[in-house]
Formats: sequence, structure tokens, C-alpha cells
Amino acid sequence: MLPTQYAIFSMKFKSVCSVRPYSSKKGISYFTTPIYYVNANPHIGHLYSSLIADAAQRWHRIRNRGAKIKFATGTDEHGTKIQQAAELNNSSLPAYCSGVSDRYKVLADKFNIQYTDFIRTTCDTHKRTVEKFWDRLQQNGVLYESKYEGWYCVPDESFLSDFQLTKRTSKNGDTTFVSAESGHPVEWTEERNYMFKLSSFRNELEHWLTTNENAVKPRKYRKILEELIRNDNALVDVSVSRPSSRVHWGIPVPNDESQTVYVWLDALVNYLTVAGYFRTPEAEFNQVWPPDLQVIGKDILKFHGVYWPAFLIAAGLEPPRSILCHSHWTVDGEKMSKSKGNVVDPFQRSEVYTSDGLRYFLLREGVSSNDSNYSDIKVVNILNSELADTLGNLLSRCCGTNLNPSQAFPMFNQRWFEKVLENDVTRRLIDHVTELPGVCERHYSDHNFYKAADAVIATLHAANLFFETLKPWELKKEAWRANELNAVLHLTMETLRVTATLIQPLIPVLSGRLLDKLSVPVNRRRFDDVLEPSWTRGHSDEKNLTSETAVLFKRIDDKRDKGRKIN
Ligand code: MSP
Repeated sequence: MLPTQYAIFSMKFKSVCSVRPYSSKKGISYFTTPIYYVNANPHIGHLYSSLIADAAQRWHRIRNRGAKIKFATGTDEHGTKIQQAAELNNSSLPAYCSGVSDRYKVLADKFNIQYTDFIRTTCDTHKRTVEKFWDRLQQNGVLYESKYEGWYCVPDESFLSDFQLTKRTSKNGDTTFVSAESGHPVEWTEERNYMFKLSSFRNELEHWLTTNENAVKPRKYRKILEELIRNDNALVDVSVSRPSSRVHWGIPVPNDESQTVYVWLDALVNYLTVAGYFRTPEAEFNQVWPPDLQVIGKDILKFHGVYWPAFLIAAGLEPPRSILCHSHWTVDGEKMSKSKGNVVDPFQRSEVYTSDGLRYFLLREGVSSNDSNYSDIKVVNILNSELADTLGNLLSRCCGTNLNPSQAFPMFNQRWFEKVLENDVTRRLIDHVTELPGVCERHYSDHNFYKAADAVIATLHAANLFFETLKPWELKKEAWRANELNAVLHLTMETLRVTATLIQPLIPVLSGRLLDKLSVPVNRRRFDDVLEPSWTRGHSDEKNLTSETAVLFKRIDDKRDKGRKIN
């Protein structure tokens, strides 16, 4: 075996990957985002939940050729908080809800959230699904009528016990109670409600949480839930209705119009509505249920990690296979809030950064276990150095008419290749590209998007270094070195093909344009298309570049754009 052949052989085997797709015996993989309250316009925190779910389902598509996917997002439109918001806006409830719900839909479209279903809890199918689900709970004997005396937090739409409160003293010395978790005000409430026997589901919840290592991720949030479930004060029966005299904007309890279904039960059932619990024959529903991945933020962990699986088990349904919980975005270390005036508007920011630019920043900088801090300076620095200078620049350099007058993605030729392989930087680049699919697969499977981005950028740095070191502009001057020049261009473009394919879940528009430019057919943009780069396959034909622009991402002129668009 020649030394180069051996090197290529060993590289091929370094790239062997662990295969961990979502187990999908049921045929359709089901991904969900939370549904968004329509009491306020979207901000980057809402967008972030959707981006994580979108990147995860995009990876699933790329990883598993022919995967069938259901991906749901939508809006949560019932309850006291929405009643109050519509009143404040002097608007009728249906018109108010439709207006804000549309904003969320436009947001999802603008940021290429590839949803298959956009659900609104005010739609008729959802109402019927909630009724069917309620009837099932009642038949299974897990509901009872009782008098609730305790605290209610309208902004969180949550019933709270004493131990979940904390005291807050205002500037004038008044003391009030607020929710210890969210800091939102609570009010004392006495009302007749239907209760759900949550306290009898401890064993089932523990079983779900401890026998399935993916049930709740990351571990930090799973541990919080384990503690909650074992705590007698926390695992108490929960109200699942409110008097309609207080909450009229909601779904009436079947056979008892004096009560409205509690907004969290109503909202959680949206995931069943999309799966076809009410309408389709059972066999079709079983193709989708249970959800494979439900993305949520840390503030709604209790509802999804305790109430939701308990409701499902009580109704005789399987709980989700996996819940992925993320932390929050802060601005200058503070929670975003209208009153502080620090809410970051994704529509406004996308005018300067583009939608893929903002997608990239949020997925590249956000980590699951800790809050991340948003700052425009950080966005500009990252986008300029990574998308403009590292990725975009490499594409325009190898596609420029100076170096590449025939506008070609040159063929792979073993002999030309051996010449450039004499150089250390070439071998390092080849190692990077060969290992990248396996590395990305590991990070995407763990939903560590920032690590996948890191690995892609490291490979592109290696490619830039290779380009600088081999100086193709010098090769161009000497006709007898044309084949070397072709090898440099080929290797650079092959690196771009592999990296763009693997980064599609984060920046679908930019990577799509790059792959178009390199004439990569749409059905050759999957994980298995990059497992064997040209040098491991030993061949690849010459292709023409398309006329698509090679300017992928324009540098953001910090001062000019800041003045023009931001704030
Ligand atoms: N309507 C409920 C969810 C019902 S799901 C059955 C709700 N809506 S929300 O609009 O308040 O929040 C939706 C999502 O946005 C949640 O995942 C929440 O964590 C996320 N975010 C809201 N603010 C956030 C940040 N500042 N940072 C990151 N995500 C945040 O809760």
C-alpha cells in the first residue's frame, strides 16, 4: 500500500460514526415547540425555543434519508392573561388573538422554521380534542370536584403553594407575596374547581424519568424534576378547571358550563391535537404518538416534566420520549421585560443581521444548562468573523474569476492530489474534513449546536490556512502548475461542500445558497453524502459553478448599521 493510500484508508475509518437516530418504530418522528402566549409580541427568547426544535428536526432529516416528520408550533390563546391583554388593547378577543398569532406565524416563516402544523388553541379541532381528553380523564377516575383555597399567579397561569412563594418589599415598605420562581405577583383565590389526582402518579412519573435516560435533557433539569417528584409538598393534586365566571375565554368543561378547562391542560393538549388524537383513526395517531422531541424553556419545566406526563399516563397514553429544556437569554445580565425596555425584537434585528445571521448567533452562543447573554457587539463580532471572514470569504476566493476563470468545481485526481498532500496543512485539513461528520453527529445528537458550529468553524479555519499556505494565486501564474491549482481549488470546494452540508440545520438559507453555487444536487445534501469525501471515494467529476452570487454573507459595518437599524 502506498503511504498516501494508507493515509486515506486510515482517515476513512476514523470517520466511523455512532448511529443514534430517534427510535421511530411508529413511522413518523414528531417534534414540537411550546405554543406561544398571544399576550405580547415575539422576542428572541420565543424564537430560540423554535430554533432549537427546528435545528433538531432538520438534523433528523439530514441524518435519516426519507425520514417522515411532523413538526408542530403555534399559539396559546386562552386564559385570564389573554383576557386582560385584549382588554388593555381595547380589542375583541378573537381579533386580538388572530393579530398576535399571525405575528408568530410570520416569525416562524421568516426564520425558516420548517413546521408542518401551526396550531391555535382557539380552533375547533383543538376544542374537540380537549373535550375528548377530559372525558378520558373523567372515565379513568382521576378527576374530582373540590374547593381550592390558595394562590394563583396570572402571568404564569399557575396555582402555587405557600412554599413556592417569597416576600417582596416595595419602595414604600409594603410587603407582598410573589412567585419564588418567576417573581410574578400572586393573588389569594378561593373557588370550586375540578382537581386532578397528581399525587397518585409519583411511581409512574419516577419510572418514566428514571428508566429512560432521554426523558428530560440536560441532566440538570432532569435532577430538578426528580427532586420535585419526590417532594410531598410539590406533588400535590392540581386544579384543572377554573370558574367560568372568572375565566370565560377558554374551553368549557364538558357537561359543566360553569367551569372552564385550566389553560395549562388546554395548552398541553395541543400536542395531541396536532397528532390527530381527535380526528384520525387510531392507527394513524399511533404513527405519530408519542412525541420524539419536545423543546421547552426552563420556566415551563414543571408543566411539561410533571403535569404533562402524568396527564398522559392517566389518560392511558404514552408520555413523550424526550423533553429538551433550554435556559434563557438575558440582556446585560437581566431578564428581558417590556418595563425594562430591553426586549430584543427578532424582526428588527434580522433587518441588519439577516434571518440566518440571527439564527446562527442564537444557536452558536446558546447553551442548554446556563443562561446566555445577548449583546449586539457579540453578534456583530461572531457574524463578521465566522460567517463573513471564515465561511463567506473562502467561497468567494475559490469562485473568483481570477483564480477560477472557467468557473468550475474541478474534478478529483489522485496524482494532482498527492502533490498537495506533501504539505502538512493539507494533511491537517483532510483529517478535519474526514472526522467532521462523526463529530457533528455526536454534537447534534446531544443537541449541542454550539459544539457542531465550533467543529465546522475549526475545519474552515484549517481550510483558510491551507489556502493561504498553498497560495493558489502564485500557482495560477505558472501554467505548468495548473493541476496543483486544480487540486487546491478542489480540496477547498470539497471542504465547503462537506461543511455546508453539515451546518444546514443552523443556517439553512446560507448553506443552501453555497451548495447551489457548487452545483450540489438537492438530493445529495444528506449526512451520508459527506461520509466519504472525494479523496476517500477516489473520484469525482468536474462540475460547473452556477451563476449564483459567491458573496455569501456581507460583513456588517458595525457603526453604520447600528445607527441605521438597531435601537
Ligand atoms: N404558552 C406557554 C407554553 C405552553 S406549551 C404547551 C408559554 N408561552 S411563552 O410565550 O411564555 O413562552 C414560550 C417559550 O419561550 C418557552 O419555552 C419559554 O421558555 C421561551 N422563552 C420566553 N422567554 C425566554 C427567554 N428570555 N429566553 C429563552 N427562552 C424564553 O410559556
